[in-house]
Amino acid sequence: MTPTPGTATARAYPNIALVKYWGKRDEELILPVAGSLSLTLDALPTTTTVRLAPDAEADAFALNDAPQTGEAAARVSRFLDRVRGLAGSGARAVVDSRNEAPTGAGLASSASGFAALATAAARAYGLELAPRELSRLARRGSGSAARSIVPGVAVWHAGDDDAGSFAEPVPAPELRMVIATVDTAQKAVSSRAAMRRTALTSPFFPAWITSTEESLAAMLEACAAGDFTRIGRITEAHAMRMHAVIQSCDPPIRYLAPASVALFDRIAALRGEGLEAYGTADAGPNVCAIVRPEQAEELADELRGLGGRLGLGAEAVRVVGPGPGAETLA
Ligand code: DP6
Repeated sequence: MTPTPGTATARAYPNIALVKYWGKRDEELILPVAGSLSLTLDALPTTTTVRLAPDAEADAFALNDAPQTGEAAARVSRFLDRVRGLAGSGARAVVDSRNEAPTGAGLASSASGFAALATAAARAYGLELAPRELSRLARRGSGSAARSIVPGVAVWHAGDDDAGSFAEPVPAPELRMVIATVDTAQKAVSSRAAMRRTALTSPFFPAWITSTEESLAAMLEACAAGDFTRIGRITEAHAMRMHAVIQSCDPPIRYLAPASVALFDRIAALRGEGLEAYGTADAGPNVCAIVRPEQAEELADELRGLGGRLGLGAEAVRVVGPGPGAETLA
């Protein structure tokens, strides 16, 4: 298809962090307190079209065909201001986004959302950006979006400044992830607000930063060595530490639900039975477990069985694998 000047469509996939990003050193630039590492998935993408509308007075943003107003629309507009600044353009834009993941339920829709928006907007405004530059741009919309530019396993370098804070691919062994969706409702406290509260009120925050740096260094070694067991142990311990530091805020925030805890317990019990999997959870109740490809279906069956007993729907459990980086479709 020949691209229409001023219009571009891009698709990006969510990512789930194995070493989490939780806390900003610079809120304006979205520089994280530490680096992080994630798996970009091959399911639940966001597809976004950006069409320049030079005659319009304001940007328009629709998500799954519903026109957005308030903070969601303002955040997209502020992001477009940045792209317009880079492109030297004053043109407003119409943005149409379609999310296959439930928005705001801890399945990283802001990551796929801003990665797709960055990619489509850069093209629509005529910018030629290398992947590293695109990752830096996506980061300004939502930190974790920096990683969804990248296929498969990505490390996001914390960096000392804007130029040094981007994601890039890292070699890693073949992994699958089993996602157990506990709840698709919008979370009560956004990641952004909860991160800020953690930094301001948790007495454990300094230790969280140093332990994340250590976890990332160990994780990069484990990935390079292809050591699944080590990758898994770091993943689960690190996720528990993130939820611990979040729970230690004032007022406290708890994202994990009773069903999430039951899933973590089951994953730990399965390890004792020879099914080696390790759990993680973002800022929400859904649990994702990493597993070797050959054991992914067995793990999914086990978690489906538990999900049924916990009252989760038949669609709640799915197997996903490493997915592509953000790409322009037209
Ligand atoms: C728990 O990237 O959504 O998923 O930069 O404020 O937009 P902002 O935050 P966001 O936070 C993601 C937090 C996390 C962990 C992770 O993805 O590393």
